[in-house]
Amino acid sequence: MRIIVLPEDWISRIAAGEVVERPAAVVKELVENALDAGAREISVRVEGSGSSSIRVSDDGDGIAAEDLALALERHSTSKLRDEADLFRIATLGFRGEALPSIASVSKLEIVSRTRQEQAGARLRVEGGKKGRAAAAGSPAGTTVEVRDLFFNTPARRKFLKSPATELSHICDVVNRMALAYAEVHFRLDHGARTLSDYVAAARPRDRLQQVLGPEIAGGLAPFGASSGKMTVNGFLSTAPSSYSTSRYLHMYVNRRFVRDRILTHAVLQGYETLLMKGRYPAVVLFLEIPYEEVDVNVHPAKYEVRFRRQSEVHEAVAEAIRSSLRAEAKAPGRTEILDREQAGFVVQEAALPYAAWPHKESRPPAEGYPGGTGSKGETVPKGFFSSLDIVGQILGCYLVCGSPRGMALIDQHAAHERIAFERMRRQLDQGEVERQNLLIPQILERGSPSSTTSALPWSVSGRAGSRSRRSRRSFPRGITGSSCAGWL
Ligand SMILES: Nc1ncnc2c1ncn2[C@@H]1O[C@H](COP(=O)(O)OP(=O)(O)OP(=O)(O)O)[C@@H](O)[C@H]1O
Ligand SMILES: [Mg+2]
Repeated sequence: MRIIVLPEDWISRIAAGEVVERPAAVVKELVENALDAGAREISVRVEGSGSSSIRVSDDGDGIAAEDLALALERHSTSKLRDEADLFRIATLGFRGEALPSIASVSKLEIVSRTRQEQAGARLRVEGGKKGRAAAAGSPAGTTVEVRDLFFNTPARRKFLKSPATELSHICDVVNRMALAYAEVHFRLDHGARTLSDYVAAARPRDRLQQVLGPEIAGGLAPFGASSGKMTVNGFLSTAPSSYSTSRYLHMYVNRRFVRDRILTHAVLQGYETLLMKGRYPAVVLFLEIPYEEVDVNVHPAKYEVRFRRQSEVHEAVAEAIRSSLRAEAKAPGRTEILDREQAGFVVQEAALPYAAWPHKESRPPAEGYPGGTGSKGETVPKGFFSSLDIVGQILGCYLVCGSPRGMALIDQHAAHERIAFERMRRQLDQGEVERQNLLIPQILERGSPSSTTSALPWSVSGRAGSRSRRSRRSFPRGITGSSCAGWL
């Protein structure tokens, strides 16, 4: 095959494929343009999943009538002036690619007026084919309407998810920008419904409440630190609030939302052992760093950045989180001194090594420790843990206990796991393991494929909902799943 030069409109569509992945990407680019233009009011109106229509209006600087056609040309931007600017980018946009890319895969109309001009101008572009700019009445600012997204790239349309999913991506985009620009009024309408209306907030904390809701925002504490020319600030969840996904991790570099492994790692490291494995905190982190210290030109959707001194950034972020969590833990009000009797804490456990309970009546409370019901007054063998005196609780997850040998700190999560494990082990010894069938059986394979020919099948299961049913084979030690099968 000979080499050919691709036609210009193919090139535009290939470029658009990287920039405009889905309707939310259009919203992101248009809102970024509005923010770069200094807008104080940004309104996003979406129809359907966004592929039928997205309209973004702002009250920013606007585009001069004679520049309007240029704004739709590839590599045309007002945000870079000389080559050195490329290495100290202060704006969200810089490549002059977003508008032409969007226009090459949609039917786009832009209307804009600067404050100095009396009349505005309008331009329509369909699948990259530009019409003529014409005078038009317009308030100061810019409105871009994008209709029939991907009308000329049906393959791309097929990759779109359900309207609800696409809409939720759009909400996420607006929310992320809103968190970083509290002083800007954001509004998102879907058809006749207003999904978000975040009036300009006097304090960043007010914006947190608007975007994350009172429950999550209420659990966040402010933090901040500087290191050299860097500053790290924002809000973080103090233990024990944690989440099973990283969706409440919002990280910004010079107010640009980024997904960055270094920052994520630094945040998690800052939490040290306060988080269980697989749990994530809620953190809104703003890193302010000299523009020349970060390269933002590394990702087509501008979601990733590269730091010149990544270990310094990592250390600054981890230390900011670590020290603020420590200060938070020491702050008055965080340590709850519990009245032992009032709280009803009674530590009960078998003397080590975890012998079977001598009498059925003296089993530990069903919910285990701490604060199980009906546990007072029962006679159980004394062990180290039962001799402890609970003084208080710190960070909502550690028990501070006094003992004849000194002070003991107990990780409540770990203690609870251990108690659950011991309970299962006891039930196992007594052949009374509580079981419930899995809806979809899990097959566990053991040994190499060649050994399976001589392997014996085993399974442990019970009727759904049946309790304490004796299995024909004993439950393999160490396996605490509720229904298992495999080969031995
Ligand atoms: N809402 C707006 N208000 C004022 N000017 C705008 C607006 N949208 C676009 N422009 C102008 O049009 C130019 C081209 O916009 P476009 O988004 O294509 O590129 P960019 O923002 O410079 O870079 P990027 O491709 O990284 O977004 C901008 O540089 C800006 O001058
Ligand atoms: Mg832009």
